[in-house]
Amino acid sequence: MTHTTTELRPYHLDHPGGTVRLVQITDCHLGHSPGSTLLGMDTDHSLQAVVDLIGREREQTDLILGTGDLSDHGANAAYVRLQTYFKQLSDTSFWLPGNHDSRAEMSAVIGSGSQLCNEIRVAGWEIVMLDSQVPREVGGELGAGQLELLEDCLRRAGEAGLHTLICLHHQPIAIGCDWLDKQMVADAEEFFAVIGRYNSVRGILWGHVHQQIDRQLKDIKLMSTPSTCVQFAPGQAQFKLDDLPPGYRWLDLHSDGTIETAVSRVHGVTFTVELDSGGYL
Ligand SMILES: [Fe+2]
Repeated sequence: MTHTTTELRPYHLDHPGGTVRLVQITDCHLGHSPGSTLLGMDTDHSLQAVVDLIGREREQTDLILGTGDLSDHGANAAYVRLQTYFKQLSDTSFWLPGNHDSRAEMSAVIGSGSQLCNEIRVAGWEIVMLDSQVPREVGGELGAGQLELLEDCLRRAGEAGLHTLICLHHQPIAIGCDWLDKQMVADAEEFFAVIGRYNSVRGILWGHVHQQIDRQLKDIKLMSTPSTCVQFAPGQAQFKLDDLPPGYRWLDLHSDGTIETAVSRVHGVTFTVELDSGGYL
């Protein structure tokens, strides 16, 4: 792994205090041009439907977390369009790469290294955006650099009395889909060992699995979120699509360290999807 810690520094986001209102948008898989499809679904159309839903449901969005596979093939044009979708909701978004993304193109488009894989300080919270991408591989791994970075963030969060939300692309726990569990964070044991040395972590949030998961590990919420396009069926040994519609997750980070959260999905819009598809790369 070649991840480094050199570009990370806390990004301080102005906020009046009190509850921080987030939305997580994940696995958009935008293609090179509008109208591109993934397994039959027009991913620009489905993302716009999710953005419209957020606009109706959330009065205020302080920041957007884009947790990887934001493009399908790492196209610069996909990230340019992604910005226009996100800006319909908030001027502030933070991104991290998934296995389908190009970190270089993301960085080129978002224009500021501070919005890609960083430590964000907002109100009484610290949000840590980690990079679990392994170039040219589907599965994830954090590696020594990202684990050191996490440890550094957690130590400083503890000193500052902040609550922590950790975000990454790949799942750090087995979810019960054999084909996806082969792709989980390879060094998850080391990841949880770092977390266990501190007491500030309130939530861990990821994408990749294209399905909702809400579990609890002691006092830490473990959360994954539907894709804004195609969904993977839970509990399957092999690749299988689900017929659930696209969605997103909102999270309210309260000043006492509690996280209020739910997933919401688009209804009343017809999406095309090849439900009998046997694969996805
Ligand atoms: Fe994905």
